[in-house]
Amino acid sequence: MRVKGFMAPLAILATAALAMPAQGATGDLPRLESKGGRHALIVDGAPFLMLGAQANNSSNYPQMLRDVWPVLETMHANTLEIPIAWEQVEPVEGQFDFSYLQTLLDQARAHDTRLVLLWFGTWKNTSPSYTPAWVKLDNARFPRMKAPDGSDHYVLTPLSQNTLDADRKAFVKVMEYLRDHDRENTVIMVQPENETGSYRVPRDYSAKANALFAQAIPSALAKKTGKSGTWEQAYGKQAPRAFQTWYVASFVNEVAKAGKAVKNLPMYVNASLAGPSNVPDPTGVASGGPQWDVLDIWKAAAPAIDFAGPDIYDRASANAEAYLDKYARADNALMVPEIGNSLEFARYFWSTIGKGGIGFAPFGMDATGFFNYPLGARELDVKTLAAFALPYATLEPIARDWARIAYTRPTWGAAKPDDGAVRETVLGKWKISADWGQWQFGEKDWTWLPSEPPAWAKEPVGGVAVAQLSDTEYLVMGDHVRVNFSPANGAANGVIVAVEEGTFKDGKWVMTRRWNGDQTDYGLNLIDRGQVLKVTTGFYSSK
Ligand code: DGJ
Repeated sequence: MRVKGFMAPLAILATAALAMPAQGATGDLPRLESKGGRHALIVDGAPFLMLGAQANNSSNYPQMLRDVWPVLETMHANTLEIPIAWEQVEPVEGQFDFSYLQTLLDQARAHDTRLVLLWFGTWKNTSPSYTPAWVKLDNARFPRMKAPDGSDHYVLTPLSQNTLDADRKAFVKVMEYLRDHDRENTVIMVQPENETGSYRVPRDYSAKANALFAQAIPSALAKKTGKSGTWEQAYGKQAPRAFQTWYVASFVNEVAKAGKAVKNLPMYVNASLAGPSNVPDPTGVASGGPQWDVLDIWKAAAPAIDFAGPDIYDRASANAEAYLDKYARADNALMVPEIGNSLEFARYFWSTIGKGGIGFAPFGMDATGFFNYPLGARELDVKTLAAFALPYATLEPIARDWARIAYTRPTWGAAKPDDGAVRETVLGKWKISADWGQWQFGEKDWTWLPSEPPAWAKEPVGGVAVAQLSDTEYLVMGDHVRVNFSPANGAANGVIVAVEEGTFKDGKWVMTRRWNGDQTDYGLNLIDRGQVLKVTTGFYSSK
C-alpha cells in the first residue's frame, strides 16, 4: 500500500482488525469517569482508549484533510486531534462559517475516526495569532497585557470581559454546531484554547491587574490550597504566575462552561511544560498555563475542565516519564495531547497506558510537508511511522478491552530508559521486569555462544504495558522488550502455568496459540509485531 509518499510500514500492521464500533451507537455523550483513582473516557457508553494523532497547526482546511487521513490510517490511529480556529469560523464579527467543520465531520465518519477539536482562540501557544483580524487589530476593545514598563505585551489579557465575551460567543457557536450536526458524537473531546499563558511577562501589569494583584487570593483558591493573604503573601516569588494562572484558568473555565452547557463533551487543556521537577522561572515559562506545579490553581479556578495534559517534547527519558507521573493523578486523568513525532517518543505510549492513560497523540502527523524538528521528527519516514504504528496496531483490535480493564485493574508500563536499565515492578505476587536490546533466544551472559547485539539494542525503542487481570493472570503487550516474571520477594514454587497469545472477542479472551519452549525459555520477547499475551501464573505445593 502506498499513501501519499508513505509506504505502509509493515504488512503485518495493515492486517490488524478494525474494531471501531459504529459511531454514536448508543447516543450517549462522551464523558470522563473516575473511580478509585482510575479514569475512563467513555465513548458510545463504554471505555475508549484514544489512539490519537495530532495534525499540524495549519491543516485545518478542507483541502488539507486529504494529506491527513492516510497518515492516520498508516498509524492505526482511531482519533484525530485537529485545530478549529476562531479566525476561520468568525472572520467577520457575528458571521459564522462552519463549512470546514462539516467537511471534517463528514470525512472523519467516512474514515471511521473520532475527532478531538482544538479551539485556537484567545491563546495559541500563548499568542492571539488565531484570533480574527477584528480582534487582533482592536487593542482598545481586546487589550493586550501590559508589561511592567507600561508597554503592550503580545498576549491578550485574561482580564478583559470583551475578549471573554467574544471568544466564548464564537466557541458556543462551535458547540451549537456540534449539538445540531454531530448527533453521532464523532467529536469526543474539545480542547478550549491551546497552550495558554504568557512568555517573558508573567502577568498583566495594567492598572486593573495591579489592583487585583494587591487583593487577597480568591476564597475558592484559599479553600483548595489552604493558602491565605494577598497573592504575594500566599505565593512569594511565584505570585505573578499564580495570579495569572488563576485568571487564565477562570477565563478558560467560562469558555468551557458555556460550551458544555450547549453540548456536554469532555474538555481539557494542554500545557507547555517547563521542567518535571523544578518550580519554573515565572518569566521563562508560559505563565498561566496548566504546568504540573500549578494544577491545583487550575482545579480550583476551572471546574469545567476535566483534566490537563502535558505536551511532551523533552527527549530525556527520565523527564518524559516524570511528566507522565505528574499528570497521572486521582483528580487528573492522564492523557498526552501532544508528544514529539520522532521515533524515540513512540515508546512512551506504553508507559502512558501503563500509568492508566486514556489517550496519546504524537504531534504533526500528516503529509502536508511540515516537520517541527528539532522538537519532533526531521521527516515522517517509514521507520518513524512504523514506530508509532506498531503499538497502535497492537492495541487497535483490543482498545476497548484495554480501556475497560485499565479502569478497574492494576496496570504498569515502562519505556526503555536512556541508559537501557532494566525496569521492574511488583503486581500481585509477581515481579515483572522489562529488559531491552536482546535477541529472542538465550541470555546476555552466554559468552560461549558469540553473538552481536540486535540492531535495536542501540536505538531508543522498546516498551511494555501489563494489566493484572486477576490474582494469577496478566495481560502483556509491548515491542522491542524482553519481559520476565519471577515470584515477588523470592517466594518459592512459583511457575508460569501458561502463556497464551490471543485477543479479545466480544470482551472475552480468545487464544490463538500457546507460547512455550523457545518462546518462553528466555522471557517473553515481544519485538516487532502486535502480539497480545495472557500469562497465567501459579504456585505449586511442595507436599
Ligand atoms: C506545541 C503547540 O501546542 C503546538 O500547536 C505546536 O505549535 C507545537 N508546540 C510545535 O510544533
